Amino acid sequence: MTGFNTNLVHGESIHDNQTGAVNIPIYNSSTYAYPSATSKVRWDYERSGNPTREFLEKQVTRLEEGKNGFAFASGMAAIHAVFAIFKPGDHILIGNQIYGGTYRILNQYFKERGISFSVVDTTKLETIEPTIQTNTKAIYFEPITNPLLHVSSVTAVAKIAKQHRLLTIVDNTFLTPYLQKPLKLGADIVVHSATKYLGGHSDVIAGLVITNSEKLGQQIYFIQNALGGVLSPESANLIRRGIQTLSVRMDRQQQNAFDIIHFLEKRPEVTKIYYPGIKGTKDYLIASHELKGFGGVLSFELGEKVDAVAFVNHLQLIRLAVSLGAVESLAELPYEMSHAELPLAERLKAGISPKLIRLAVGIEDSEDLIADLKQALEFAVNPITINQLNVQ
Ligand SMILES: Cc1ncc(COP(=O)(O)O)c(C=O)c1O
Repeated sequence: MTGFNTNLVHGESIHDNQTGAVNIPIYNSSTYAYPSATSKVRWDYERSGNPTREFLEKQVTRLEEGKNGFAFASGMAAIHAVFAIFKPGDHILIGNQIYGGTYRILNQYFKERGISFSVVDTTKLETIEPTIQTNTKAIYFEPITNPLLHVSSVTAVAKIAKQHRLLTIVDNTFLTPYLQKPLKLGADIVVHSATKYLGGHSDVIAGLVITNSEKLGQQIYFIQNALGGVLSPESANLIRRGIQTLSVRMDRQQQNAFDIIHFLEKRPEVTKIYYPGIKGTKDYLIASHELKGFGGVLSFELGEKVDAVAFVNHLQLIRLAVSLGAVESLAELPYEMSHAELPLAERLKAGISPKLIRLAVGIEDSEDLIADLKQALEFAVNPITINQLNVQ
């Protein structure tokens, strides 16, 4: 068995019509000719299967060390496919800080179709068992929460789930198989927004599901083919290409994250930093035990006298945008942007204050990122508004 980095670069070996192509071609064909009407063909119609998509599906299955992989048109289409394997009357436990879109599809779509759910804090293992009901079928969570980067142990959660014959489903978007392989730690299904680290360049939306058994694989394939939210061959090719550089990008992002943290720790404008790589926290304890690295996202809280809106608006190099995991650094204000849909009380309860900044660190020179943060912090302490300028 070859190493992880070799697998990133090479994926499945290809034999393309003896052309010698070193990459899988983008097969743009919605339909495929049958040699004869009674032939059993491997490819017949793109929704059911496409060689470029299949290359990516096998590539991620190998990286996650699963049985089957499936590529969807978005992370949400992948998550939809996973919840679609449940039936009316089933109950699911979900992590208390999962992606808002995931909560929305459960709360406003699956709930109406008879699937109920309860929210649990997977960082507090003792709260899980009392929430399990006789009809509970699965636990779904993100091992690193967004935007505060709290860490849950997949091993510990999966152990409880197994004792109660529940499926463990992990959204591995923030970590990727480079930093954690949930299926190896006892999970049954992994989902990804491949839009983030796997694609890595903010130029494609995609989702993935990887299962640990043929049986679950067949269930997901049925949904993929029946509902049809498949990834296009062009987008599959972009994710395939992004994956080849996953580990070098993530190593650099993590190094940049540490450089930025060392800078922020010395700034009087910053009152708290959230990153699982900061020693002395419970998050660090789990992360250093279970993860290969700490990732490229960090959050920090600005002091009362610092204008958080002025800070993000004044960044020059770091772009003000939601999303994460790409080569360019992005900053956002979760209170106003990614988490604005949450009711105010829930936002505050989750620790999402108006002063919280989330930084998705890219692969630029960390000196340039730090210089940008420095000038924006200096400005945000004493922001001059356009109105003030006009008056003078
Ligand atoms: C953790 C996580 N899961 C799922 C999704 C949804 O993925 P997509 O935007 O590709 O549909 C996102 C999007 O931000 C996410 O952050």
